[in-house]
Amino acid sequence: MSNSSSLKWNGTSLVLDAAWGDNGKGKIVDYLSPHADLVIRWAGGPNAGHTVHNKRGEFKFHLIPSGIFNTKCILADTVVVDLDILIYEIDELLSRGIPVSSKNLLISPDITMILDWHKKRDALTEVARGEKPIGTTRRGIGPAYADRTERIGLQIHHLFEKNFEKRFKKEFDWQTRLTQLMSAGVEKKPYDYDDMLRRLKVARKRLKPMIQEVLPVIWKAHKEGKRILGEGAQGALLDIDLGTAPYVTSSHPTRAGFSAATGVYKINHVYAASRAYTARVGSGPFPTELTDAIGDHLVEVGHEYGTTTGRRRRCGWFDAVATYYGAHIAGATEIAITKLDVLDGLDEVKICVGYIFEGKKYGIGKIPTIKNRFLDHVKPIYKTMNGWSGSTKEARAFKDLPKNAQKYILELQKLLDKKIRFVSVGPKREEMFSM
Ligand code: IMP
Ligand code: MG
Repeated sequence: MSNSSSLKWNGTSLVLDAAWGDNGKGKIVDYLSPHADLVIRWAGGPNAGHTVHNKRGEFKFHLIPSGIFNTKCILADTVVVDLDILIYEIDELLSRGIPVSSKNLLISPDITMILDWHKKRDALTEVARGEKPIGTTRRGIGPAYADRTERIGLQIHHLFEKNFEKRFKKEFDWQTRLTQLMSAGVEKKPYDYDDMLRRLKVARKRLKPMIQEVLPVIWKAHKEGKRILGEGAQGALLDIDLGTAPYVTSSHPTRAGFSAATGVYKINHVYAASRAYTARVGSGPFPTELTDAIGDHLVEVGHEYGTTTGRRRRCGWFDAVATYYGAHIAGATEIAITKLDVLDGLDEVKICVGYIFEGKKYGIGKIPTIKNRFLDHVKPIYKTMNGWSGSTKEARAFKDLPKNAQKYILELQKLLDKKIRFVSVGPKREEMFSM
């Protein structure tokens, strides 16, 4: 970073993702969080995969906020948590010498727990979708949020009730019957009562000190003008309401989602991350997808394999129409462009600047919605630019970039109509600069 004091901000900032996820939020959070007093995760659950490379090595998280290395972190009410995975991640950090305790991790009691039946129901529902599955991570996200919306299911605070075992038994019986029905009787004894109860008791004991009311902590920090950093998960185009439905996740990975989770509405900066190209994992329309040698280049040079499922990500040219829409619904104020180095050495680079839908042209900001019924039938309109031969990896300021890479960044800034605040040119912490 050219000037680390330029990273400081006042009040609340968010780092989220302008597109379909995996755009390098973890790295930006790792960069900003040394300046934060509090880091809050609000969206999704262990469907997320955040990779952080810092001086301690490489870390992959699904639930633990990437801010854990630097500051106090909170898992807010609206995250869905698989306690087994959370404990696994805590143990991994402890074994590598990074302390995790109630001093740096708080877990809201109002979090809905992902249990074995949510994962099973996720898989059964994908099968029921037949030829058009969503391609979920099968981590139980949709069913856990469904239970929450239906106002059933188990939340973390239930673990501490006097009659918890009675409540668990009732839930167990109901979920068992539900799964038997969903599987048309194929699943006869889908869940192991003793094993599930044992795991929950272990988790209850282990996590107890960290399970605390989080709203007073958030509101106090907010009132005192402390620096709060919201750590996003997934991407705006996966938003349950405004994303590319039905190929979306079940939460709100947007600024609105942060406010819904925290009751904090005054947000100063919203940094939306986007690669210098576009990618998506799972099913769903993707107008600029490349299935040729350039697509392979992006996958291989960009190491585009999912952190959570190991699936090969689909890659293509930068879709300025979808990313503009994503940044808009995300509530972005500024953009962080990541993985610029992946485009090094390409003869030319293309940017999608419009779609053709039913014979009509739609420019950036002109599409009525990005839902599947629209996006599935569009043809991209490209603007072609010259590539660059030198490497961008060593650049630590905009002026260090090859001239054509500079032009590319400025073109993205113009098309997205938002300031590009950060540019990342490699996975390491120092391979980044601000503008
Ligand atoms: P679910 O969130 O597991 O229900 O999956 C729904 C869709 O969102 C699938 O296409 C997933 O691949 C995608 N998805 C969910 N979480 C992430 C993420 O963190 N990064 C990228 N894609 C995600
Ligand atoms: Mg990811």
